[in-house]
Amino acid sequence: MASSSSMAFVALACLLLLSMGSSNAQLSTNFYSSSCPNLDSTVKSVVQSAIKKESRMGASLLRLFFHDCFVNGCDGSLLLDDTSSFTGEKMAGPNNGSVRGFEVIDQIKSAVEKVCPGVVSCADILAVTARDSVVILGGPTWNVKLGRRDARTASRTAANNNIPQPTFSLTQLISSFQNQGLSTTDMVALSGGHTIGQARCTSFRSRIYNESNIDATFAKTRQANCPRQSNSGDNNLAPLDLQTPTSFDNKYYKNVVNQKGLLHSDQQLFSGGSTNALVQTYSSNPTRFSTDFVAAMIKMGDIKPLTGSNGEIRKNCRKTN
Ligand code: HEM
Ligand SMILES: *[C@@H]1O[C@H](CO)[C@@H](O)[C@H](O)[C@H]1NC(C)=O
Ligand SMILES: *[C@@H]1O[C@H](CO)[C@@H](O)[C@H](O)[C@H]1NC(C)=O
Repeated sequence: MASSSSMAFVALACLLLLSMGSSNAQLSTNFYSSSCPNLDSTVKSVVQSAIKKESRMGASLLRLFFHDCFVNGCDGSLLLDDTSSFTGEKMAGPNNGSVRGFEVIDQIKSAVEKVCPGVVSCADILAVTARDSVVILGGPTWNVKLGRRDARTASRTAANNNIPQPTFSLTQLISSFQNQGLSTTDMVALSGGHTIGQARCTSFRSRIYNESNIDATFAKTRQANCPRQSNSGDNNLAPLDLQTPTSFDNKYYKNVVNQKGLLHSDQQLFSGGSTNALVQTYSSNPTRFSTDFVAAMIKMGDIKPLTGSNGEIRKNCRKTN
């Protein structure tokens, strides 16, 4: 008996060590429950007022979390400002002139610092903020895993290389997500983030003028506010979900099924390839979309977090301590 129970102990200890070796071992939903019990309500009230002021902000905040996680993990690296001696990620191609919401993150960080100074990372603030944005715009909720720490470094090169581009083919989209440990199902479900928010003309111009798998009336409508010549109207905006751009719902997939995906990459998900069936499913089954979106958001939040004594808890999300 004694030897079998000590063997069981050894086996358990091994499992524990193994799981500690995996990158997300220390993330947990109750990470701040004693160190910052009011974290959720503090974040939520700032997100709520920001979205009330500008409904698009929810989309912008969700996107920040995605663009942070895909570049060396969810470590707040995206939030670091460029300086004369530091190159951050904000000017990388997929971010420059496009990512927004940093002032809201600053407001959230100051509100959180007031109630629990020096405790909550900027990386975790992005994770909670993304969830709150989805919920406030009518989407599903989930418990956010926490305990990430903030990077002292950033990489513009990795941002350029790792964030998928709207010109990507289905194969490129699948491998971009696979490189982050995310499945094709995760990729299709997370693309549902495009049920909210806006894109610039420069991101969809070639699709609306040059592609054939696009609804003709939809293309005309978008052309009216996105001139063919580049440099003209580059920053003109159009909703990623033409029906309900401020509601987190499954209309994005209905659009894609009807050849009304705005980005080339959106339409790639329903262009006769391996993801057609799943897009069809999400377009008719909002519950399946919600379930898969939540699972994929949690998985994305698990990408290479800094934990334990790695990284730091930044005082100001824009700069290292
Ligand atoms: C599948 C690969 C993806 C590609 C190629 C892609 C590409 C883009 C592009 C080009 C824009 C418009 C940027 C601009 O013109 O300023 C955009 C906006 C957006 N993306 Fe994605 N995206 C992808 C996945 C995701 C994921 C996984 C999420 C979140 C779960 C997401 C959330 C958003 C949101 C919410 C916006 C609107 C932001 C705003 O209005 O400020 N995207 N995306
Ligand atoms: C960022 O965008 C601005 C405005 O389009 C441009 O002038 C600048 O060169 C871009 N920065 C980088 C690093 O590409
Ligand atoms: C359409 O495709 C042609 C040929 O590839 C290219 O020269 C042109 O710039 C494209 N037009 C737009 C608006 O992207």
